[in-house]
This record gives sequence, structure tokens and C-alpha cells, in this order.
Amino acid sequence: MQTETKSTALLDVQGLCKSYTAPSGTLDILHQVSLELQQGEFLAIVGESGSGKSTLLQLLGTLDSSDAGEVRLHGTSIFKLSESEKAKLRNQSIGFVYQEHHLIPELTALENVMLPLLIQGMTRHEAQLRSEEILTRLHLQERLQHPPTRLSGGEAQRVAVARALVTKPILLLADEPTGNLDEATAQTVFQAMQALALDEGAAVMMVTHSSALAAQADRMLRLHRGQLIQISTSEESL
Ligand SMILES: Nc1ncnc2c1ncn2[C@@H]1O[C@H](COP(=O)(O)OP(=O)(O)O)[C@@H](O)[C@H]1O
Ligand SMILES: [Mg+2]
Repeated sequence: MQTETKSTALLDVQGLCKSYTAPSGTLDILHQVSLELQQGEFLAIVGESGSGKSTLLQLLGTLDSSDAGEVRLHGTSIFKLSESEKAKLRNQSIGFVYQEHHLIPELTALENVMLPLLIQGMTRHEAQLRSEEILTRLHLQERLQHPPTRLSGGEAQRVAVARALVTKPILLLADEPTGNLDEATAQTVFQAMQALALDEGAAVMMVTHSSALAAQADRMLRLHRGQLIQISTSEESL
């Protein structure tokens, strides 16, 4: 399963291509995308709607297949993995946060966070301790027994962040995680995500439309016409 690579990057993407077949013809979405992400780095991805940002994250998260290119996560070539190995990688090494929290409505906040740990085979007791600890760090200790419907938008997103990072993944993929929130709440959720990722040693790739948040990342790339372009984090207009 392990394929050794000389790159020291946590994530090494080379020549990634993806197109979709539409009735009108072929849509070239990603064209020879290459990028490296270092351990613990926080990268913001910006770009117009429809530029392929979600497609890129789906590919990196092994949720879709590419037409060409190579993606190595900690030296492992992810497209060469079997479906069960991909599922294991997603459960153990990658965290996901989306614009919608996607919490399970029948479960409490605490149970939602415990779930990925239980899937890994952790005992209920251990999973509960670890989940309570991470939710407390996100100032949600008074919300452990709340179902998602009784959480505010910002609280629900913080629970989603806790669920994504509770397994200590090496990579967090966040697709417009604050897209549904007002500016102040977005900042709170962003800071929680940044601090927790840093504590847990996860590198982050965050898609955002917010120039204010993107400017707080270590690095910012714009997806434009199928390619990633380096831009300064001080650039104002997105
Ligand atoms: N499964 C699909 N089949 C056909 N076209 C798709 C599919 N998924 C996405 N697209 C198209 O690919 C483009 C990029 O989509 P997406 O990655 O969601 O963009 P973004 O997240 O940057 O808004 C869009 O034009 C979208 O319509
Ligand atoms: Mg998108």
C-alpha cells in the first residue's frame, strides 16, 4: 500500500486533471493542477463559483476519481488504493467539513463527535472522554446533549469541526465551512478550526469566499481556468 516518495510534503499533487462529460461537450474542470501542502500548513483556496474548488477537494478526499495525475498523502498514492483502503484513509487520516454541517439529526452533539471514533473501534468510554474534551475546547461543554436542531449555526459548525478533527487526521479538507454564517460567527468558527487543527497537527485546505478569512491563512491559492495560481494573502479582491 505504501509507495515511497522523495517529496517531504504531507500532500503532493502532480498534474491532476478532471473533466466532466456534459450534453454540451466535455467540461475541463482541473487542468494539470499541482500543489504541495506541508505538515501543519493552513492553505486557503479561493476562486469563482464553478471554478472546480469542490471538485478538487473531492478528489483529494478520495471521493471521486481523476482522469490523470498523482496525489500522494504521506507518500501513499491515493488513487492506487482499493475502495476499502480509501474508506480507511478517510476515516483515519482525513477530516471533512462542508458548508452544511451534515450532523446526524437523531444523535446528540456528543454522539455525532463520538461516531468516527466508534467506527475506528475505540471503546464507548474512551470515545466519550475524547469527544467531551474536544467539544469543551470548542466551548461547547454546555451543548453535549443537544440534538443538531437545537444548536445555532455557529455551534453546529463547531461540532462538525470537532467531528472532523477528533480522530486526529493529518489533513482537514474544508469546503466553504463558514459559507452559511454571518461574518462574526464565521470568524469564531474559523479560529476554532485553525486552533484545533494546529493543536492536532493537521494540515488544512479550506475553500472560502471570504477574503477576510483567506488573508488569515498561511498561504492562498486561486483556482482559475483549471489551474492554481499563487496569490498574496494581502490581495484584497477575490
Ligand atoms: N458530476 C458532475 N457532472 C458534470 N459537471 C459537474 C459535476 N460536478 C461538477 N460539475 C461542474 O464542474 C464545475 C466545477 O464545479 P465545482 O467543483 O462544484 O465548483 P466550485 O466548488 O468551485 O463552485 C461546475 O461547472 C459544475 O457544474
Ligand atoms: Mg463548491
